Amino acid sequence: MSPRPLQPPLIGVFDSGVGGLSVLKALHQQLPAHDLLYVADSAHAPYGERSDEFITARTHRIASHLLAQGASLLVIACNTATAVAAASLRERWPHLPIVAVEPGIKPAVALTRNGHIGVMATPATLRSDKFRRLLSAHDGAAIEVHLQPCPGLAGLIEHGNGEDPALLALIDQFSRPLKQAGVDTVVLGCTHYPFVAAQIQAALGKHVQLVDTADAVARQAARLLGPPPATRSRRVLLQTTGSANHLTRLAHHWLSFHFDVAHAPGL
Ligand code: DGL
Repeated sequence: MSPRPLQPPLIGVFDSGVGGLSVLKALHQQLPAHDLLYVADSAHAPYGERSDEFITARTHRIASHLLAQGASLLVIACNTATAVAAASLRERWPHLPIVAVEPGIKPAVALTRNGHIGVMATPATLRSDKFRRLLSAHDGAAIEVHLQPCPGLAGLIEHGNGEDPALLALIDQFSRPLKQAGVDTVVLGCTHYPFVAAQIQAALGKHVQLVDTADAVARQAARLLGPPPATRSRRVLLQTTGSANHLTRLAHHWLSFHFDVAHAPGL
């Protein structure tokens, strides 16, 4: 039997690749009755080392695709796409509810005990005006924020082998300056990183708290959507611009609920 078509109210979610599955997991938990359509732009990942023009063009193309499939709320499950293109998406679709993930500076400021916070994110996120504005909102807080660009890390996580020596070496390399700075709290500012949170934790040490904003994003989506539709069995469809087999393998590894996988048509 072929699966039923997606039905409204449909939540459209996207990322440069598989990282946004960490946000999808939280959405699945907090919005138990809504259909979910996820796009992984894996053929073009990682975004973090691309130009702003490229990221903006891909983001608009994917958002149009999700809306054409019937999405009534968009979740940008990618810090990089948020940093570079969320404002232009909101300008283009002013009435569309858009929830966007961004590095959790605010929760980190609340959590830190010694005032030293680290932020691991892509180069594109850290150089963006949006991120600079987010940082300056905490200017007076007597907090020192240590920025750690992590080029190449999302790309390796995209391959799905958490034990890959090259991946572990990169995590080590990016953790070292943060350790030297004495941070006690580190923001995972890219949705790919929660999938290697254990490896990052091991490199930084047990005393460092990691901050991930997936749950906060899902709570915000639930607030905007209001009460759930009448009970029905929900459907989750994952589409990719890359290999459907690869996405199926990683999603089975990372997600514990049922989903279908397909190639993203025309993207
Ligand atoms: N997962 C994305 C983010 O949250 C993008 C990583 C990348 O494609 O470089 O930033």
